[in-house]
Amino acid sequence: SAAEKGGYDYFMLKEIAEQPKAVADTLLGRIDASGSLTLDELRIPHGVLREAQKVVIVACGTAFHAGLIAKYAIEHWTRIPCEVELASEFRYRDPILDQRTLVIAISQSGETMDTLMALRHAREQGAKVLAICNTNGSTIPRESDAVLYTHAGPEVAVASTKAFLTQLVACYLVALYLGQVRGTKWGDEIRAVIRDLSQIAGEVDRVLETMEPVRELARSLSRKNTVLFLGRHVGYPVALEGALKLKELAYMHAEGFAAGELKHGPIALIENDLPVVIVVPSPRSRSVLHDKIVSNIQEIRARGARTIVIAEEGDEAVEPYADHLIRIPATPALLQPLVATVPLQVFACELATARGNEVDQPRNLAKSVTVE
Ligand code: G6P
Repeated sequence: SAAEKGGYDYFMLKEIAEQPKAVADTLLGRIDASGSLTLDELRIPHGVLREAQKVVIVACGTAFHAGLIAKYAIEHWTRIPCEVELASEFRYRDPILDQRTLVIAISQSGETMDTLMALRHAREQGAKVLAICNTNGSTIPRESDAVLYTHAGPEVAVASTKAFLTQLVACYLVALYLGQVRGTKWGDEIRAVIRDLSQIAGEVDRVLETMEPVRELARSLSRKNTVLFLGRHVGYPVALEGALKLKELAYMHAEGFAAGELKHGPIALIENDLPVVIVVPSPRSRSVLHDKIVSNIQEIRARGARTIVIAEEGDEAVEPYADHLIRIPATPALLQPLVATVPLQVFACELATARGNEVDQPRNLAKSVTVE
């Protein structure tokens, strides 16, 4: 009913708008007055966290993209090698697991069969499993050794939005906490990022306030057949997520690429007026990558691409090459996905609406897939 949708036309619009609260709720009570993380709720002995030699993340769909981003954060702040794998591939290739492997299973619903089978396999091999889940008491957290709940509230629209942002928050919390417990050389940075994380809900809110041009752009592209997405570093999984949203909702051919890989193949796809969305890393903290991606934007534009650039406020270098410029607030490099994903969600939702698609219930998809 209209009341359930809180005055919005679709659950997805409501859930996109709820993201600042979902993010804030997921942080609530997990940062103490001194600015340290308190994740005692995990009830995994610190000894186990200190001795872990490998982290393996398993998940499906949008949750898998959260896992891809988590890898950058975990390896940077903890120096523990981290692998990310599609849950449906995991157990069938006889993965290497033991008591010193920490497996993280990410699932909004907690009922995805592929993810459940992956975590069962991991536990049989003696690994410890931590679930990151949005649904209290669901199967995946019940069968795990520990759980960190995301507090997005119920997500009804099939395409995941607010759950994704809170999965990212939970992944950052786990990465920072592991760093804190293990005492890496990043102590000062970890404390600074925890401070930034506690401000991030306000930044997500600011992004939401500036989305009208994104909606307009989406409507203008409703007759296109293909959209490409490029990113680097944590912007690469963001590009994959932007493409997935467009497939799910607009039923368009959409693909995400690592921008550095463009020259090894995908650049052959560029043709006149092809829309390409580029997620640009910060010029402050990732200046080398920033410069490289600006060259990529130049290259594809010279070949006729219509460039849709998502860049940090104050990044002037992109201006000459952006046919459309979407601004996002400055954040620490690893946190950028929390703000960069939001315009892509709005873009896909509006494009789907413009194409007359059913936004909350896309064809052929289910909110939670309980078969392998
Ligand atoms: C389904 C949904 C996706 C979701 C995936 C994983 O395929 O359509 O939106 O990302 O399952 O769901 P989970 O509940 O495990 O996060």
